[in-house]
Amino acid sequence: MLLAMSMDDTLWRDYEKQILGAADMQALAEIEQKLFGRKSGLLTLELKKLGEASPDVRKVQGLRLNGLKQKLDDAFVQRRQELAEKSAGSLAETDAIDITLELPKKERGHLHLIPEFIRSVEEVFGRMGFDVATGPEIETEDFNFNFLNIPETHPARDTQDTFHIAMDPPAKNQGDNLVLRTHTSPGQIRYMQSHKPPFRVICPGKVYRKDADATHSPMFHQFEGLMIGEDVSLANMKAVMITAIRELISSTAEFRFRTGFFPFVEPGLEVDMRWQGDETESREGRWLEIVGCGMVHPNVLKNVGIDPAKWQGFAFGFGIERMIMLKHQIPDLRSFYEGDLRFLRQF
Ligand code: DAH
Repeated sequence: MLLAMSMDDTLWRDYEKQILGAADMQALAEIEQKLFGRKSGLLTLELKKLGEASPDVRKVQGLRLNGLKQKLDDAFVQRRQELAEKSAGSLAETDAIDITLELPKKERGHLHLIPEFIRSVEEVFGRMGFDVATGPEIETEDFNFNFLNIPETHPARDTQDTFHIAMDPPAKNQGDNLVLRTHTSPGQIRYMQSHKPPFRVICPGKVYRKDADATHSPMFHQFEGLMIGEDVSLANMKAVMITAIRELISSTAEFRFRTGFFPFVEPGLEVDMRWQGDETESREGRWLEIVGCGMVHPNVLKNVGIDPAKWQGFAFGFGIERMIMLKHQIPDLRSFYEGDLRFLRQF
């Protein structure tokens, strides 16, 4: 008796169910081996036996077994496909990146407007061939005053309300006393001591003065500039000042040069810029001083060992907050430091 005949179809249907319910590809492969394995697969054996049967039986059983085989084959194909889809779905859940997915917005910060402005200063002056250097915020009196042609008794010291740093024991020489730098001009001295002319450099940074109102703060920012060569002139200086103001503040900026006194330059000039907003809002009126400049004094060059008979050039010092105030019509300097997000988010 053929096994196929002895096994009723419920057994095969049971296998069909096992196939359709297989948990994974491996379970499916095991059932396949059991049924269709080349040597001992149940269905393989049944089909082999057909060869020994009488032609009549072979015909009937052949049809039946092939029908069963087809059904089981179909079940394998169907289950394989289902399992493949399922694993692709779980891959999407675990691994894949959905670039169309809308995620909750994360708040992103940005630079405060002062460092951001300093970057654009470095970029604009970089294009004009200026190097960038920095110096310490705690300076000696030598660097902050003496080497800049401002001796101890000079009245110009009065205009820079200096924070002195107590020293214990006190410095032996007056020039070694420590102060918070009152301007970025010591940057000129440090650069000239360590470089050989010709050169162009700017030194941006913080400076400190005992001063506080709507247009003055005890800590504020400046950038110093210096250009020394064999024939650098006042006309070159004006060109650089005008380019800087137009590029950094506004191409339609209105400004004026007037003479000014600074011990480290001769002649000295100041540049004022016209307030661009409502004049009643400006705390200093129509014109705001934004830069001091001039031709470097021969004494300063001598102090750093540069021969004033061969080398000459100009220096300048811009007030950074003032430039930004003019650029955006910000009437009160204190807004920069209050940390009020309603102010900071506007820039
Ligand atoms: N250091 C000066 C100040 O803070 C500004 C200044 C004026 C800088 C003229 C310069 C200069 O380099 O040439 O008031």
